[in-house]
Formats: sequence, C-alpha cells, structure tokens
Amino acid sequence: MLGGTTEASALAKALATQPRYDALLSLAGRTEKPAPQSLPTRVGGFGGAEGLARFLRDGKFDLLIDATHPFAARISQNAAQATTITGLPAFCLRRAPWQAEAGDNWRHATSVQDAIAQIGSAPRRVFLAIGRQEAHRADAASQHHYLIRSVDPVDPQPQLPHAHYLLDRGPFDVEREAELLREHRIDVVITKNSGGSATYAKIAAARALGIEVIMIGRAEAPAIPTVATVDEALAMINHLLPPG
Ligand SMILES: NC(=O)c1ccc[n+]([C@@H]2O[C@H](COP(=O)([O-])OP(=O)(O)OC[C@H]3O[C@@H](n4cnc5c(N)ncnc54)[C@H](OP(=O)(O)O)[C@@H]3O)[C@@H](O)[C@H]2O)c1
Repeated sequence: MLGGTTEASALAKALATQPRYDALLSLAGRTEKPAPQSLPTRVGGFGGAEGLARFLRDGKFDLLIDATHPFAARISQNAAQATTITGLPAFCLRRAPWQAEAGDNWRHATSVQDAIAQIGSAPRRVFLAIGRQEAHRADAASQHHYLIRSVDPVDPQPQLPHAHYLLDRGPFDVEREAELLREHRIDVVITKNSGGSATYAKIAAARALGIEVIMIGRAEAPAIPTVATVDEALAMINHLLPPG
C-alpha cells in the first residue's frame, strides 16, 4: 500500500488485525517524524513507474493499493502505470473532495499559482495551508501578509517580507481554527481540496467568520478503480483477494 495519508494509516491498522494479509506500507519519506504505523513500513521512492513495477514483481505482491494524498499526482500516475506493466490488480483509496455548503464563500483555483494570483493586487492577510512543498509560490505575490502552516518546515523557503510560520499537524478543531484566523486577522484562506475530516475545521471556521476561501481543485482522478472509505477498501480487498 502506497500511503502517507490518514486513510492509509487507518487501513493499515485494519489490515494488521487480519492475519491472512501480509501487507507492506510505503511512505515517501517527506515527513521528518512520521506517525507510528501498524504495518511493516518501507520509506523512499522506487525510481518511477518502472522501479515500482520491479519492486512489486520482486516482492511477489498480489495487490497494489494507492492510498496516497489526492494531490500526490506523480505517485498515483506511477501506480497506474506499474499495474499496466505488471498486470497486478490495483485500486485507489481516495477521500471524497469537500463540497461548498450554505454560508461558504469559495473561489475556485486550479493550482497553487492560480490561487496566489487570485488573492488580488491589494495587500491582504492570507492563511496559506497547502503543505510545505509549494509555499514558496507565494513569492509571486509578496505584498500580502501570510500565515503559513505545515507539518514540517517549508522547503524551499519562501522569500516573503511579511510571513508567520506555524508548525502543526491535524486533526484540528473548529474553535481553535477560528481563534487562529481571528488572532492573525486573516481575510482569505488558501487550501487544497484534500477532503476528509482532519483538516476540515479551517473551512468550517472560515464559514463561521465569513472569510473567503480559495479552494484549489484536484487534478484528474486516477486511472484505476477508486473507493472513498476504509470500509469500502476492505470490501474491495476481500473481493480482489477472496479467502482461499
Ligand atoms: N501532495 C500533498 O499535498 C500531500 C499531502 C499530504 C500527504 N502527502 C503524502 O506525501 C507523499 C509525497 O507527496 P508528493 O506530493 O511529494 O508526491 P508525488 O509528487 O506524487 O511523488 C513524488 C515522488 O515521491 C515518491 N513517492 C510518493 N509517494 C510515495 C510513497 N507513498 N511511497 C514511496 N514513494 C513515494 C515517488 O518517487 P519515485 O518516482 O522515485 O518512486 C514519486 O514519484 C505521498 O505519499 C502523499 O501521500 C502529500
């Protein structure tokens, strides 16, 4: 299972209790202190789709599960290609995207660059909650004040005259998120449409405070069958690898 998400960890926990599966979890190695996992874990890239295909063949795997983040596009592409190369069954565990509801004030963006451009030219106070790898894209609009939150320190480092960096890891709750938005006098939140509950609180807090959200949409869906929950994933595994 390719992981790095809350859902992958939850599925790992469920699989660890079922002795008929001999499962391995794979992490990219981006997080300095990854959360403890219930399955044996390997860390690091495979060397593209070909490398992943070789790894799957050498390890005599029967099934590949892509439970990576909806915005980790390259590894999902590699996973789909590796299943074509090997002919292995595979599926993707991907949480459903968030949907705007009454009271939300969302603007849609297609990428981090697009979201940064949409803040506008007049200086604003921005909560940038898009992870550590793309925060430097805010350099294109350095007139704004940024509150930048990530699990690990941002890298590459942005060159911003007005930025406050915050290290924290979800799950977050709505009250504390609202407090954070108020404390930093935020008037726009930028987020990827990751889905799931762990990081949804900032959206609910923005709604409660009438703050605009620039929502970065997902790229196209992966080219393998997809389920949205851990229970559906367990049913899919049982279907693809029936007992006996
Ligand atoms: N992008 C996000 O917003 C985000 C948010 C939360 C968590 N994550 C997690 O962080 C990891 C990296 O994300 P990313 O956006 O940098 O991915 P990415 O751009 O899609 O992948 C870049 C490269 O990292 C390696 N890789 C990615 N996931 C891997 C895994 N689970 N096991 C082994 N190698 C992996 C692969 O290297 P090779 O080509 O050498 O195999 C891949 O080509 C993912 O596992 C994802 O689930 C990402």
